[in-house]
Amino acid sequence: MDIKFIGIITCHLLFTFLISKLLFYILLNHLLWLFSSIVTFSLWILVAVFTYKLTKRNFLAEEVVPKNKALLITGCDSGFGHFLAKRLDSKGFHVFAACLFPSGEGAMELKNNCSQRLHVLHMDVTKEDSVKDAVEFVKQNLGSSEFWAVVNNAGIAKGFSFELSDMDDFKNTLDVNTFGPIRVTKAFLPLLKQSKGRIVNITSLSGKLTECSNAGHKDFILRTTGPLNRRHSSVD
Ligand SMILES: NC(=O)c1ccc[n+]([C@@H]2O[C@H](COP(=O)([O-])OP(=O)(O)OC[C@H]3O[C@@H](n4cnc5c(N)ncnc54)[C@H](OP(=O)(O)O)[C@@H]3O)[C@@H](O)[C@H]2O)c1
Repeated sequence: MDIKFIGIITCHLLFTFLISKLLFYILLNHLLWLFSSIVTFSLWILVAVFTYKLTKRNFLAEEVVPKNKALLITGCDSGFGHFLAKRLDSKGFHVFAACLFPSGEGAMELKNNCSQRLHVLHMDVTKEDSVKDAVEFVKQNLGSSEFWAVVNNAGIAKGFSFELSDMDDFKNTLDVNTFGPIRVTKAFLPLLKQSKGRIVNITSLSGKLTECSNAGHKDFILRTTGPLNRRHSSVD
């Protein structure tokens, strides 16, 4: 082996050793910095996302003051409407609980267990006169409250099968679930406009799945009341 060959190989090894040492030093520092930055940023995003809802609910949510706010809920004989009437009454709202059977079990329970503010009244959402009477009843019993909301809750579940359900099922479903809320909303609109109140439609996911479904027909209301809704929120 000649001396020149050994010298060049030694220089090469030394040189590459020094370069790799330098690279290792630079990369280690930079990679560590990069890695820790990415981890910190990801953690920050995670914490921010998880605490966002909490912050929003506690500090950014618009608080509705129930005092002197009156609202009407349809279909309070049973189910969601019944429990909502109780709940909103306990919160201090002036509740008009519209029942299909105002002497029935559900209506009686509301009368016996809720505050004096809660009024039980009759309303069949498929009958024009019944809805008009309800408007008069509300006007006469509003007292110092402003009429602030209508909750279109009444609904029936028929007409699931296009082939097997008869026409009366479809007609009845449309009358209660679609024309009912339209009838009620139109009747209470003058009062709602005065208070710049809100319309709450309780509908069903089935409305998104099939055209001939039960409560889903109420989705139609969303479209027809579009021009009235300055703000619309949907809870699925
Ligand atoms: N339960 C669910 O899983 C579910 C899911 C999605 C959406 N929803 C919707 O939530 C709403 C309430 O449902 P729910 O489960 O609480 O059912 P529910 O217990 O049967 O309540 C519906 C209420 O509407 C009343 N009603 C029926 N026909 C009426 C009419 N022509 N005029 C006035 N009121 C009438 C019923 O009175 P009677 O009891 O005297 O018949 C009943 O009190 C409905 O709009 C429904 O489509 C329910």
